[in-house]
Amino acid sequence: LMSAVALAALTTGATGAMADCDDGEIVIKFSHVTNTDRHPKGIAASLLQERVNEEMDGTACMEVYPNSTLYNDDQVLEAMLNGDVQMAAPSLSKFEQFTKQFRIFDLPFMFKNIDAVDAFQASETGAAMKESMVRRGLLGLGFWHNGMKQMSANVPLLEPSDAEGLKFRVQNSDVLKAQMAAMGASPQPMAFSEVYGALQTGVVDGQENTWSNIYGQKFFEVQDGTTETNHGVLDYMLVTGVDWWDSLDAEVRDQLSTIIDEVTTTRNSESYKVNQEAKQAIIDAGGEVRELTPEQREAWVNAMKPVWEEFTDDVGQDNIDAAQAINA
Ligand code: LMR
Repeated sequence: LMSAVALAALTTGATGAMADCDDGEIVIKFSHVTNTDRHPKGIAASLLQERVNEEMDGTACMEVYPNSTLYNDDQVLEAMLNGDVQMAAPSLSKFEQFTKQFRIFDLPFMFKNIDAVDAFQASETGAAMKESMVRRGLLGLGFWHNGMKQMSANVPLLEPSDAEGLKFRVQNSDVLKAQMAAMGASPQPMAFSEVYGALQTGVVDGQENTWSNIYGQKFFEVQDGTTETNHGVLDYMLVTGVDWWDSLDAEVRDQLSTIIDEVTTTRNSESYKVNQEAKQAIIDAGGEVRELTPEQREAWVNAMKPVWEEFTDDVGQDNIDAAQAINA
């Protein structure tokens, strides 16, 4: 008999997700929204699946559903609390409804690169964030990296004023909406799976994302070009449901934890490279990539950074100071 979930995956066209789970194995469904190749999260999720199914065979079995085939990011946390899915790795922007501390990751020009993000997450403050939603039923198992965001539109973007009056898709985050408004642009929150169509049909003019997402979703094909702004970070938290996690035998939980930690360390160290390869793949496919002069970059910083003031109370001045100390 086919489960409702398996049927849903089949009818939505999921391929390769079904690991043949045996009777008696703990089934771990992992739902995410990106592609699997040339993508930091896609590769990490596949490696996690491979290792769990090899090393925990007979005990546990992981099924990864990529490409929003099972849930989008708005649905997945709800599904997790209902016990319908056991793991997900939504971007940190998706957690702000649970805790406003996470807004620090969305603030433009807060972190100079992914190494600075890594160092902040490894600090006491960062590590505590993984447990900040336990009361709400969610437990962070690790931070997974994607990388720095770039901006694209249907016109060249070199000065922030080039974005004035344009509509940009953003993830559903108050910080990202404020960031676009600061440039005189109009933010349009939208699910990831809908962005390509919205760019193609002109429902929005532009978007911001990492090289791997711009390549994986083919955004560059329906944009004038992409500008290397590195203005913000897109990172993930691997998350599970507290109830489910607590229901596991200690031995099973420990083995799973160890595998997760190893996969996290291994793949996080490759995330920059994966994004650089995606950037090159965009160029190879004929996509236009624009670099900013130092003066142009300064103009973007000046346009976006005032947004920090609006959110200082949410994220804490001490945390901003800690992030800035890491950048220095
Ligand atoms: C987005 O919605 O743009 C990203 O969070 C998608 C992802 O998971 O990388």
